[in-house]
Amino acid sequence: MDIKDIVEDAVALAPMAGVTDSAFRSICMEHHASYTVSEMISAKALSMGDKKTKSLLKKRSVEKPFGIQLFGHSPDDFKSASEILEDDYSPDFVDINMGCPAPKIISSGAGCALMDDVVLSTKIVEAVKKSISVPVTAKIRCGFKDKKNAPEFARALEQSGIDAVTIHARTSNMKYKPPIDLFTIEKLCNAVRVPVIGNGDICTVNHIKIMNNLGCSGVMIGRAAMGNPFIFLELSSNKRGVPFNAPTSKEKFDVLLKQVERAIEDKGERNALNQSRKHVCWYLKGMRGASKLRNDASKISSYIELKNLIIKALELERAG
Ligand SMILES: Cc1cc2nc3c(=O)[nH]c(=O)nc-3n(C[C@H](O)[C@H](O)[C@H](O)COP(=O)(O)O)c2cc1C
Repeated sequence: MDIKDIVEDAVALAPMAGVTDSAFRSICMEHHASYTVSEMISAKALSMGDKKTKSLLKKRSVEKPFGIQLFGHSPDDFKSASEILEDDYSPDFVDINMGCPAPKIISSGAGCALMDDVVLSTKIVEAVKKSISVPVTAKIRCGFKDKKNAPEFARALEQSGIDAVTIHARTSNMKYKPPIDLFTIEKLCNAVRVPVIGNGDICTVNHIKIMNNLGCSGVMIGRAAMGNPFIFLELSSNKRGVPFNAPTSKEKFDVLLKQVERAIEDKGERNALNQSRKHVCWYLKGMRGASKLRNDASKISSYIELKNLIIKALELERAG
């Protein structure tokens, strides 16, 4: 698939470690996400055949287009990992994580720390490009620490063959809170010819229009999709001027149950429920009695307990 066909006009689900597993990604695709990306996968662990890492690569047929995101700092690890992806996993594209600000990641020279080392970053892009036939993209920030070198950095990646760049428009020091930096997005879009995907706090059609006006081909949505896969349907309806009927609580819970059933299929009941508690809390947001229900949700450890919690939530709503 050509990268332009994947990202043009896209409203995609952002990669989120611990959140965007196949269960959630497939639900988002069924609600009209344009494409999804895996949680970040360690290039080193994958190249060493780590079982837990491989289990993160499960996907469903509805997940198309689908990108796999690798993180690391060694071009050799990226090369081996990309060869494995090419042979065994057939992603539609491979994304390189150059934006993660987590101390554990940047202290190893990976994630956003790569934005401080253009030479190494271009070697990584070249290594991946040589090892895989699908497009290669990079997810960056405005820059590492307080520097804002995204435009020059992306231009160097472009010269090494990168096919598209996603920008989370904050520096690594800004983490997730301060307002996104639209000026750097615009400078980046003017600096490269490859498509740019804008990211950061996007949740309305107006935000998408702002990104498009700055020169972005598509956008990516992260936190606003947590517990709300319906956002993709809402935005695609709004963009087309078609009415969007917000889901009822019952409809929301039916989708949550479907998501958890898929997680159980993939991970077994105990692991799936452990990892689904946060999703349950997000789905409960805005409901009557949500804070008490969230407290209950943080303790559930079986599918039956989840079903009982949902019954209770619906009863509370009816009583209200
Ligand atoms: C819990 C969580 C996990 C994340 N994991 C990743 C990741 O694995 N790879 C990545 O490139 N970005 C990751 N991100 C960043 C998001 O992809 C996105 O860039 C960021 O949340 C800003 O977009 P938003 O405002 O729409 O959430 C993560 C964000 C969150 C909140």
